[in-house]
Amino acid sequence: MVIGSLLTLLSLAALAQAYSLGAQIPLRPPKISARQNLVQPEISSQDHLPSVNAAEFISIPIDHFTRESVATFQNRYWVNATYWKEGGPVFLFDSGEQDAEPLLPYYLQEFHGLSAVMRLSKRYGGLAILWEHRFYGQSLPFPVNKNTTANQWRFLNTEQALEDIVYFANAFPVKGNSSHSSISNTSSLLQKFAIHPSKTPWVMLGGSYPGIRSAIMRIRNPATIFASWASSAPVQAQVDMSSYYKAAERSLTRNCSADWVAVTRHVDNTLKGDNETAISNMKFDLLKARLSGPGGNATGAAGLTVQKAKNTSNVDAASVLMDPLDFYQYYGFASSILPFCNILETRNRTSDPVETGLVAQFGIDVGFKSFLTAISEIDYDSIPGNADDPVQDRSWMWQYCSEYGFYQRGDPNNALSIETSFLSLNLFQEQCNQTFGKGLPASPQVQNVNRYGGWNMNPSNVMFSNGEFGMIFFTSVDPWRTMGLASIESNSPKRTPSPIIPTCNKPPPSSSTFFGITYANMVHVSDMRVLLTPDANHSDFKTVGFYSPVSQEPFFAGLGLFQLALDEWLPCFGK
Ligand SMILES: *[C@@H]1O[C@H](CO)[C@@H](O)[C@H](O)[C@H]1NC(C)=O
Ligand SMILES: *[C@@H]1O[C@H](CO)[C@@H](O)[C@H](O)[C@H]1NC(C)=O
Ligand SMILES: *[C@@H]1O[C@H](CO)[C@@H](O)[C@H](O)[C@H]1NC(C)=O
Ligand SMILES: *[C@@H]1O[C@H](CO)[C@@H](O)[C@H](O)[C@H]1NC(C)=O
Ligand SMILES: *[C@@H]1O[C@H](CO)[C@@H](O)[C@H](O)[C@H]1NC(C)=O
Ligand SMILES: *[C@@H]1O[C@H](CO)[C@@H](O)[C@H](O)[C@H]1NC(C)=O
Ligand SMILES: *[C@@H]1O[C@H](CO)[C@@H](O)[C@H](O)[C@H]1NC(C)=O
Ligand SMILES: *[C@@H]1O[C@H](CO)[C@@H](O)[C@H](O)[C@H]1NC(C)=O
Ligand SMILES: *[C@@H]1O[C@H](CO)[C@@H](O)[C@H](O)[C@H]1NC(C)=O
Ligand SMILES: *[C@@H]1O[C@H](CO)[C@@H](O)[C@H](O)[C@H]1NC(C)=O
Ligand SMILES: *[C@@H]1O[C@H](CO)[C@@H](O)[C@H](O)[C@H]1NC(C)=O
Repeated sequence: MVIGSLLTLLSLAALAQAYSLGAQIPLRPPKISARQNLVQPEISSQDHLPSVNAAEFISIPIDHFTRESVATFQNRYWVNATYWKEGGPVFLFDSGEQDAEPLLPYYLQEFHGLSAVMRLSKRYGGLAILWEHRFYGQSLPFPVNKNTTANQWRFLNTEQALEDIVYFANAFPVKGNSSHSSISNTSSLLQKFAIHPSKTPWVMLGGSYPGIRSAIMRIRNPATIFASWASSAPVQAQVDMSSYYKAAERSLTRNCSADWVAVTRHVDNTLKGDNETAISNMKFDLLKARLSGPGGNATGAAGLTVQKAKNTSNVDAASVLMDPLDFYQYYGFASSILPFCNILETRNRTSDPVETGLVAQFGIDVGFKSFLTAISEIDYDSIPGNADDPVQDRSWMWQYCSEYGFYQRGDPNNALSIETSFLSLNLFQEQCNQTFGKGLPASPQVQNVNRYGGWNMNPSNVMFSNGEFGMIFFTSVDPWRTMGLASIESNSPKRTPSPIIPTCNKPPPSSSTFFGITYANMVHVSDMRVLLTPDANHSDFKTVGFYSPVSQEPFFAGLGLFQLALDEWLPCFGK
């Protein structure tokens, strides 16, 4: 869970987690964690996952593009050659903005289920690789902490990190690193075979940020990456991502939306006003709701005083209203927000819901009170979250502050906003400035990403998959779809997925469609693996990302379509 401070602005961890894309991290909306700080112990230690193949390291130039320095760093990866047959393709699974190690059992060993990368390897006699991104896990050109300098951060960018893949593909299989003998053996054994991307197809797979990378690689380096599966890839970088919570709002029942919108506006207006008494009282009520637990248990709020509450910033206080959205990206509406809406709309199960919502029927005081009750009655602490990884938090924050943006701000001009407008673009930029200071661009350089086409990109040999918006009530949503090819945002090209497999090496004929699939009612990156037997270890998002906790269908549908595509595309490799 996010560790933050009650009396500071958004914590670094909260911000980083909020904006992270990978299913593991990604996805948490800003969480200002008074509750954690005051009442919640650290997450208890998880069961350990089975250890599988040992990591291998490749020595990579820190700077691929200038001859400024010859310095290198060790980048980590893993190989599973179980299904590999001479001449078979290479399937590279990109883990993106996280420590890749927790993914290992699920992706390269199919712990408790199946993974796309291993199933494809089996079907095509391929070699499976799990790749760790620079500046994450153990692939660190420099130590990542608050002392990391701008001069070091400048090597964490889209181009350098993509070029790592090119460099690796050209160098693999690398000579064994004696300090990591186990997989070095696999690599050494592979030495005599033709695995170079000029000799055999390399296929890249990734979800979320790694999905962006997978799609871009096919455009940027078609001679290295022959085909890609880009899952829930927000390929359009944009500073303003107020659309994130628009997607959430669309998924609510209408009465719940009406009340959420009204309460959000009420809180924003009160906190912006000049009635100090009303402001202090409201902050106290908000924090108390967060600190209280189910069954009217206010024990957790015992230490809260009006004085302390008064000292809390507007954004920290108003963000309490967004607590119910914390797990929305992972679980979708039905599993995460519906229980909240039900308590809200029934006034803690004491009355029937009304179609217009409480505020329209009974006024703002009733609506606000019921909203606070619902916040305290849902036991958010019992919902598994992810343990904090400070390296990941900081590195991803650098990435979004410097290039990707995706500032999930509350838009005061959006009449249906369920996000406080205190979470403004300016606030995000201030946080970026404060964290990185000199050396950070004045605003995210989204053109570094969008130069590959953004949501107009039309690469050959790429399949795009997405979770659906919650256009229908009670569905799950993929808030990142708003920045992907399947976006329906007003400023997007509004392209639609087509399951017709494009001719190999040719961009799909119509730019109003793209090749891929949008899964009805599904969450962000629901298809990179599937869970087939229960796994108590699935309490930590760092280990469980890139799959759907609610359905096995996206995995089988996505894998099936991608296999049909590869059946068409692979035979034309080298022709
Ligand atoms: C959790 O992982 C451990 C291996 O570290 C394994 O022994 C255990 O069976 C797993 N638990 C479940 C329920 O899968
Ligand atoms: C490779 O993958 C297979 C199939 O999932 C698995 O059974 C095996 O344990 C893996 N091997 C290694 C070394 O991880
Ligand atoms: C950062 O630098 C300061 C001053 O040199 C030092 O005291 C501190 O230990 C460093 N922190 C880390 C995490 O390396
Ligand atoms: C082998 O890997 C270790 C661990 O990253 C690294 O310190 C060492 O320099 C590497 N050795 C060679 C020869 O690349
Ligand atoms: C790697 O090869 C060495 C020498 O052949 C051998 O001693 C070692 O056990 C091998 N490691 C693994 C994990 O197979
Ligand atoms: C300020 O807010 C308090 C508490 O809500 C209220 O009782 C009071 O009437 C308000 N004062 C003014 C001047 O509106
Ligand atoms: C909500 O209702 C439950 C019983 O259904 C009760 O125990 C609890 O105290 C109520 N919560 C509040 C904040 O009134
Ligand atoms: C009330 O909440 C506190 C933590 O805030 C918890 O320790 C206690 O067990 C809860 N009491 C009940 C009866 O659930
Ligand atoms: C209020 O905040 C200031 C500055 O952050 C701090 O010095 C002070 O101790 C706080 N007061 C209370 C009552 O928490
Ligand atoms: C109102 O909201 C509740 C809870 O989200 C929902 O069950 C109900 O169907 C909604 N609509 C009406 C008309 O009550
Ligand atoms: C962030 O810093 C840049 C200078 O690097 C400055 O131009 C900009 O105004 C700052 N933005 C905010 C919101 O503080």
